Amino acid sequence: MKRGTDVLAAAAVLRAGGLVAFPTETVYGLGADASSDEAVAKIFAAKGRPRAHPLIVHLAPEVVAGAGLDDWAAEVPEAARQLARSAWPGPLTIILARGPRVSLATTGGADTVGLRVPSHPMAQALLRAFGGGVAAPSANRFGAVSPTTADHVAADLGDAVDYLLDGGACDVGVESTIVDLSRGRPVLLRPGGLPRETIEAITGPLTSADATAPAAPGTLASHYAPNAQVIAVPPDEVPAAVAAARGKVCVLAPASAFARWPGLAVHARVLPDDDAGMARELYSALRDLDAAGFDVVIAALPPAAGLGEAVGDRLLRAAGPRTRNES
Ligand code: TXA
Ligand code: MG
Repeated sequence: MKRGTDVLAAAAVLRAGGLVAFPTETVYGLGADASSDEAVAKIFAAKGRPRAHPLIVHLAPEVVAGAGLDDWAAEVPEAARQLARSAWPGPLTIILARGPRVSLATTGGADTVGLRVPSHPMAQALLRAFGGGVAAPSANRFGAVSPTTADHVAADLGDAVDYLLDGGACDVGVESTIVDLSRGRPVLLRPGGLPRETIEAITGPLTSADATAPAAPGTLASHYAPNAQVIAVPPDEVPAAVAAARGKVCVLAPASAFARWPGLAVHARVLPDDDAGMARELYSALRDLDAAGFDVVIAALPPAAGLGEAVGDRLLRAAGPRTRNES
């Protein structure tokens, strides 16, 4: 694996059908040419991910500003155009009918495709230099917590990656919000880096994914699981959870929550109090706690507003049963 900041070298790897890990504002992605079945197959092999799990296609802002969106989506409803105009570049993925340039391997055989225009400057430079769409899931091994630094990627995927673009730590820290606009009324498939409130201001109320929604592995329980057992509870229930826990225990909570438990004798991993700070540090914290060998992580659930909805969602999935789908 090569590692560095040479965007042109990374784009050449994509053109040759190879794999490039790259930073986005949310998490690191593991990218391949979205128009090539062969290149995309390497992503599934590297991650150990089932081939039916669809990948998001990443596009440069210029593609979307021009007429290029129609290459990647077969039908773009007015709501999607509005949302794209106001939220891209940024941490939002829009599900639309699959366009002619999307390889079927990318969508796992589905007739829809997830599209996203990332705001990270290095991601944009890569997409521009490459010119086409880049299919990319989070650059972690299947079932692991998403990577928010280049070191996380190297630890998870190492030699499976041809070029690792190092852009430092990700700013948002949780994956993009996914909204399905391919089926009429807008459906929230995954809360993420763009708050629901921001989207609803444009689309109106989002309904939650239901049984008729396409299978999205990231939306099932036990997705973002570290090795430690995670117990996610409201802040008031943390002391009782600590009293009941056995083994090497750590509490993961914002500073203001710890201030409410003056007598609590326990290892502490302190997160920022603001929802954006919490999101930014969440995955690094979970990886650190695994590395430190904790058996149990008791996490305080934040209020489900703003980025708190995504943080709570990931904590509950990390706490969920380990036997379901993961990506
Ligand atoms: O922030 C992100 O979204 C990151 C960065 C790299 O862009 N990517 C990411 O990809 O989180 P991944 O593959 O780890 O999660 C994408 C989720 C999966 O749960 C997948 O099932 C869902 O998006 N998805 C992708 N295309 C879909 C489609 N056509 N229909 C329904 N769900 C889809
Ligand atoms: Mg993922």
